Amino acid sequence: MSSLSPNSSRFAQPSPAPSPAAPLRVGLIGFGCVGQGVYDILRRQPNAGAEVRRIAVKNPDKVRSLPAESFTYHADELLADPDLDVLVEVIDDAAEAFRLVSTALRHGRRVVTANKAMVAEHLAELVALQQTHGGTLLYEAAVCGSIPVIRTLDAYFGQEPLRSVSGIVNGSSNYVLTRMGLDGADYAPALAEAQAKGFAETDPTLDMAAFDPRAKAVILAAHAYGVLLSPAQVLNLGIENISATDIAYAGLADQKVKVVAGLYLLPDGQLTVLVTPQFVSSDSPLYAVDEEFNGVVIEAEFAGSQFLRGRGAGGHPTGSAVLADLAALRGDFRYAYAKLGAPLSYTTDLELKIYLRTDHEVLLDQLGFTDISEEADEDGYVVGYVPLDALLQHRDALRKAGAFVARTGNVRPGTVHSEENPALEEVSC
Ligand SMILES: NC(=O)c1ccc[n+]([C@@H]2O[C@H](COP(=O)([O-])OP(=O)(O)OC[C@H]3O[C@@H](n4cnc5c(N)ncnc54)[C@H](OP(=O)(O)O)[C@@H]3O)[C@@H](O)[C@H]2O)c1
Repeated sequence: MSSLSPNSSRFAQPSPAPSPAAPLRVGLIGFGCVGQGVYDILRRQPNAGAEVRRIAVKNPDKVRSLPAESFTYHADELLADPDLDVLVEVIDDAAEAFRLVSTALRHGRRVVTANKAMVAEHLAELVALQQTHGGTLLYEAAVCGSIPVIRTLDAYFGQEPLRSVSGIVNGSSNYVLTRMGLDGADYAPALAEAQAKGFAETDPTLDMAAFDPRAKAVILAAHAYGVLLSPAQVLNLGIENISATDIAYAGLADQKVKVVAGLYLLPDGQLTVLVTPQFVSSDSPLYAVDEEFNGVVIEAEFAGSQFLRGRGAGGHPTGSAVLADLAALRGDFRYAYAKLGAPLSYTTDLELKIYLRTDHEVLLDQLGFTDISEEADEDGYVVGYVPLDALLQHRDALRKAGAFVARTGNVRPGTVHSEENPALEEVSC
């Protein structure tokens, strides 16, 4: 096939919206876990209003569940096909996904994606491309699989101020933490079990070091607060260095360790976002979100507290979100991004109360620990306050040093805030 530049005149122009009776003609790019889930759902739901017309994959030598003639190995062919109404991008290569999705949007096409890393890294540009060229990008599947959290935040809560959005948004790490909590298992066997059951990747870094939930937090921030962040601005601490000692410490206070992605509107009206292990008590709905499940708590100004729980990954749950996006496209839905441009600033000038377990005492000085309330030499942990900025600066060093950090939930304003507004106090979030 000849290569096709995004500006080629042969490039497909957006098809006119199909008549209500005509199913959307879907070009499916990727036929792995999610792609096959989407295919199977649409096959089993012939009246869903969408049907897969073409499929693009990468490897011509792979054994497939469908005949070889069902596939092309050139995704650009689907982008150029004017007989396709929607492109569903579910590949595992974020850079190539961005090339495909941005090219399609530049030509005003309608696209559904599940790729959180790609969306989080390029969200500002993806929003601008839609505004400039009139295409539509939906990505419910990118955050919490089957849980309809993006559309809830974007459409339902588009006008309502939110106090916080906090959630367990990574099923792999939650599965490992659950196994460790129930069986007293160490991290390595719990991770091996998660991998054997298909809940964790062979290379678990993205999930266990909290890069995956950080990407999801960035996407949530855009819809919940209208703030476009780059992933690097958000603290991500994971569970690669967790031990049975840490789980036991949480248990002493009847708490569980959970990796929580937290977006908090602080008392001074600024937003902070962070993804870290956290000690969670039984009065939080997140306490009961176990195994590979995800859960999100939305604290809204007028609606009060709401809790969404469901399966955050897997072919069918993620395919369910793609199905919902296809149905939404049939109704000409697009994200309103209603809060974008709101005069809300992002801050990392906070101090967090943390539990740190480490053999490297020098880390305590580097992090600038203050107000130490607990210290156990034999277990090597200390509890006290550290600046969020110090955690951001030293997160790689903490990871490499084998240290484990968990938030207690208490935060207080950092030095700049305190000087500007001495009335600010410690809050719980
Ligand atoms: N798995 C989940 O539960 C889940 C949940 C939410 C979101 N997601 C996201 O969904 C996306 C897909 O995940 P997955 O688990 O389905 O991945 P996967 O099982 O590894 O499958 C990836 C698919 O992408 C295809 N592919 C890769 N590069 C391609 C290219 N350049 N052109 C065409 N096809 C290409 C592969 O082709 P071959 O078959 O030829 O190798 C394969 O079919 C990722 O962005 C992931 O983060 C996954």
